[in-house]
Amino acid sequence: MTPLTIALYNGKGGCGKTTLAWNVAMGLARREPTLLVDADPQGSLGDWVNWADSEGHFAIAFNDWAAFCEGPPEDHRYRVYDCPPRLGEEEIQAILGQADVVLLPVLPSPLDLWASRRSAELLQDLRARRPGLRAFFVLNQVEAHSALSRASQSAIAAMGLPVLSVRIARRAVYRSAALEGLSVYHMGKRATAAMDEIERLIEEILK
Ligand SMILES: Nc1ncnc2c1ncn2[C@@H]1O[C@H](COP(=O)(O)OP(=O)(O)OP(=O)(O)O)[C@@H](O)[C@H]1O
Ligand SMILES: [Mg+2]
Repeated sequence: MTPLTIALYNGKGGCGKTTLAWNVAMGLARREPTLLVDADPQGSLGDWVNWADSEGHFAIAFNDWAAFCEGPPEDHRYRVYDCPPRLGEEEIQAILGQADVVLLPVLPSPLDLWASRRSAELLQDLRARRPGLRAFFVLNQVEAHSALSRASQSAIAAMGLPVLSVRIARRAVYRSAALEGLSVYHMGKRATAAMDEIERLIEEILK
């Protein structure tokens, strides 16, 4: 069976691509074999992934660009691609061309949203050519109980991509898990809320 491929993409840096790729991959790996693809030449996922392997989880890294272009192994149910912020046109097409679902993490401020405009446009173009492609904004680092400002809502509406209904909150546990080389699935009770929202995100994209 061809794997379901989910890419975390945004040309803007620091919006949560790696954090979400890692945690979503670990959540998917609890369901079925999952390949976590580090499409970042700097390879920041490397250390985490070695830990995951030593613990017997399924997520693994794959950051050999030439091999990637030939096609990653197919013996996984899910693939998650963590894209670096700056990619050449050819690299973008190679990565997103393989994706079934693209998640574009954004911080919920008008400035951050507008900074993601080029990436949203690129996804609109891709969708025009490949109507089967599903692409969504994911609001990340949302302050608890805060409503989305009107300016943010209109920025989102102007960019024409749907938004996942789950919102990922700003939580210290995402940072501490990353520092320890762990996912929110391995942080015990203090990560229950984070784990729940990652699970809801996964359920939403598997729908
Ligand atoms: N929901 C969250 N709550 C708290 N901290 C977060 C959250 N999401 C991301 N962070 C933190 O924000 C910083 C940037 O996140 P991350 O590295 O995942 O972004 P990125 O989009 O992969 O960045 P780059 O574009 O540089 O690859 C990291 O320090 C990460 O731990
Ligand atoms: Mg990253």
